Amino acid sequence: MSQPNTTEKETPTQFDIHPLIKERWSPRSFSEKAISEKEVKTLLEAGRWAPSSSNMQPWNIIWGIKGTQTYDRIFSCLHEFNQGWAGNAQVLWACAFRKDMPTQDKENFHALHDLGLFMSNVYTQAQSMGIAVHQMAGIDFNKAQKEFNFPDNYHVATAAAFGYYGGDPAILDEDLKKEELKKERSRKSQDEFAFNGNFQK
Ligand SMILES: Cc1cc2nc3c(=O)[nH]c(=O)nc-3n(C[C@H](O)[C@H](O)[C@H](O)COP(=O)(O)O)c2cc1C
Repeated sequence: MSQPNTTEKETPTQFDIHPLIKERWSPRSFSEKAISEKEVKTLLEAGRWAPSSSNMQPWNIIWGIKGTQTYDRIFSCLHEFNQGWAGNAQVLWACAFRKDMPTQDKENFHALHDLGLFMSNVYTQAQSMGIAVHQMAGIDFNKAQKEFNFPDNYHVATAAAFGYYGGDPAILDEDLKKEELKKERSRKSQDEFAFNGNFQK
């Protein structure tokens, strides 16, 4: 089963996995097709139903559609490297988590983990809609914290760029274009990170 408008990459899996997972990848060029507010809210809805420690749902998302001030404000917080391509996206998010428990007496050590689960749901929903997601650690989190009025007990962890698959890699600079056109994706093999017994290195 292949997804609409997906530029195909080779994903050498060791076992068969669901096409929504296998066919996902992170482009830096996107189709010019717009993403609607309803589509953004559909993605947020998928994230909303992610599991989280004690159902605390520590995720907080600032979202902006291309051509709006919020989009530009998120863009202005990105590191220079990411500004080099993320303006190709139709939607940008700044993704934050609440660092403490709702009782405010303890740190929520699983908050970043749970933001990751939120984003994982978002990835799968997006893939089913033919929308690609490219996350970024490269965001000035102090600037974003101030820009969007997050209190001190929140941390802006990542940004994310969204757009339909099918962009034109020719718009990227040479290095990024090469990366975009690489056919094969790679991962560590299972025996490097999964052990049926003691940790081995
Ligand atoms: C939390 C996180 C942070 C990332 N930060 C950046 C980033 O700042 N800039 C960038 O170009 N890609 C970034 N990436 C994309 C990764 O490099 C990419 O997911 C990885 O190389 C695997 O490629 P794939 O997603 O196409 O399978 C990030 C991905 C994640 C999940």
